[in-house]
Amino acid sequence: MELLAGEDKTETEYKEHGCRFKVDVEKAFFSPRLSTERDRIANLIKDGETVINMFGGVGMFSIIAAKKKKCVVYNIDINPSATKLCEQNIKLNKLVGKVESLTGDAAKIIEGQLSGKGDRVLMLLPEKSDEFLDAAIKAAKKNGIIHYYCHIHSDKKNEVGRIAKEHFLDVMKIKTEVLGSKIVRPVGPRFYQAVVDAKLL
Ligand SMILES: C[S@@+](CC[C@H](N)C(=O)[O-])C[C@H]1O[C@@H](n2cnc3c(N)ncnc32)[C@H](O)[C@@H]1O
Repeated sequence: MELLAGEDKTETEYKEHGCRFKVDVEKAFFSPRLSTERDRIANLIKDGETVINMFGGVGMFSIIAAKKKKCVVYNIDINPSATKLCEQNIKLNKLVGKVESLTGDAAKIIEGQLSGKGDRVLMLLPEKSDEFLDAAIKAAKKNGIIHYYCHIHSDKKNEVGRIAKEHFLDVMKIKTEVLGSKIVRPVGPRFYQAVVDAKLL
């Protein structure tokens, strides 16, 4: 990272969907370009759900969801700087007891304490989704919903949703109903981040 202008600091406060976030662009992942997707996920959550956010970072998806719906969210991240900021963001948004920040490898934490607890599982680490799919299945309840993110290379934007769905069905080992699939955002020339929403059967 290179400072182009302004104060020489990497920590700042960011506001989105009525929530406040402490972010540090040098220490933990942060992208304002996921704002629409965060709102979409929060709107899908039903009151009473338990949500497992496997790669939750500083807690943006988790906090926006818990502010909007009566749900409990487990925000897991392997980066201690991200989970420390998440703890501060939980307090900043008065969500103590609704969002819990957990530090460590998502697969290990699910194995140890969250197996079968999730009505909904978020897996926003597109480059490793296939590797963590078994852990996501383990985290979900029967009929739980998984939001699976992946990177798709395509010349045709309108084919991305279909390709993402086909890839998901190819790697998924148990029966699911695909509820939808679509582009989240472009991430490079002819590369897209896509999401597949699927219900375990
Ligand atoms: C693309 S970021 C998403 C962050 C967050 N969902 C957001 O939108 O702000 C992926 C996150 O996964 C975390 N991560 C990478 N490997 C992990 C693992 N094995 N277990 C838990 N978190 C992991 C990274 O530290 C990073 O914060």
